[in-house]
Amino acid sequence: MGASTVAVIPGDGIGREVVAEATRVLRHLGGVELEELPWGADYYLQTGTTVPPDGYDTLRSFDAIFVGALGDPRVPDNRHARDILLGTRFELDLYVNYRPVRLLDDRLCPLKNRTCDHVNFVVFRENTEGLYVGAGGRVRPDTDEEIAVQEEINTYRGVRRIVRYAFDFAAERGLTRVCMADKSNAMTHGHALWQRVFKELSPQYPSIEATHLYIDALAMFLVQSPQQFQVIVTNNLFGDIVTDIGAALQGGLGMAASGNIHPGRTSMFEPVHGSAPPLAGRNVANPMRTHGESSVRLKVPCTPARRRAMSAGRWGPGKQAPRF
Ligand code: IPM
Ligand code: MN
Repeated sequence: MGASTVAVIPGDGIGREVVAEATRVLRHLGGVELEELPWGADYYLQTGTTVPPDGYDTLRSFDAIFVGALGDPRVPDNRHARDILLGTRFELDLYVNYRPVRLLDDRLCPLKNRTCDHVNFVVFRENTEGLYVGAGGRVRPDTDEEIAVQEEINTYRGVRRIVRYAFDFAAERGLTRVCMADKSNAMTHGHALWQRVFKELSPQYPSIEATHLYIDALAMFLVQSPQQFQVIVTNNLFGDIVTDIGAALQGGLGMAASGNIHPGRTSMFEPVHGSAPPLAGRNVANPMRTHGESSVRLKVPCTPARRRAMSAGRWGPGKQAPRF
């Protein structure tokens, strides 16, 4: 089998620094051909282009995409980040946002009396619909009569494929619980569809306990008793929000990994943290989770040896990455 081809978009700020470390690891592991694409704030400011006209086709020609953090104060509307990140999710139809939440060391957890045994679940966030499609508009903008509408799109096909993915993921791994979170008590149209799909699919997985929580209750239980969760599935916006809670449970945004997946097609892997402009260029960003990102991509589990290296402080800012 030939090497897999990976498009690398280092991005902005500390993204560039941690991606440089991650690509060293990927090269060391071998089996991948990396090609760097310069898109990011500098490229946009120099060329006026966020993603070139054939950009999404270029991305489709790779086996995978590895993207660093995006965001730069010189681009206040973050248009390049939107086109690169959200544009790729939509154009490549990457409908599964896979966000594992796994505490790697007890000391990183902000909760009292919680250990690595309590924080180990995955969130599947619907990634191509919901409030992110940009449907809506503003009438009489910038006046006292302004009306702003942002529509949430839920399609039967879209909801079904993400809920099915979550159940299949659980079934393939012998997991026993899938929790769907919505706000169907208030959003009685769109989220009735989530209810319908969940009730339709759950009987097809008799070995899995299918539970439902309203999203506000899920937020509470994630803090109160994260150990009850194995697989969570939810919509685009709610998934965005609860995965920041998930990131905190793991030790912060810098520890959170994310895969944007369309099974069988080119998928995109990104760390969840931002570009942290004040930290950029100081060599203080910890590349640990960007390595986690590569391992999500490569399906290389984070081994106990690597966990020990991190706990012992042998792997962190300014330290040489351990050999593995
Ligand atoms: C994320 C980010 C993005 C999102 C932003 C940058 C648009 O918060 O990947 O979680 O909301 O999807
Ligand atoms: Mn987010």
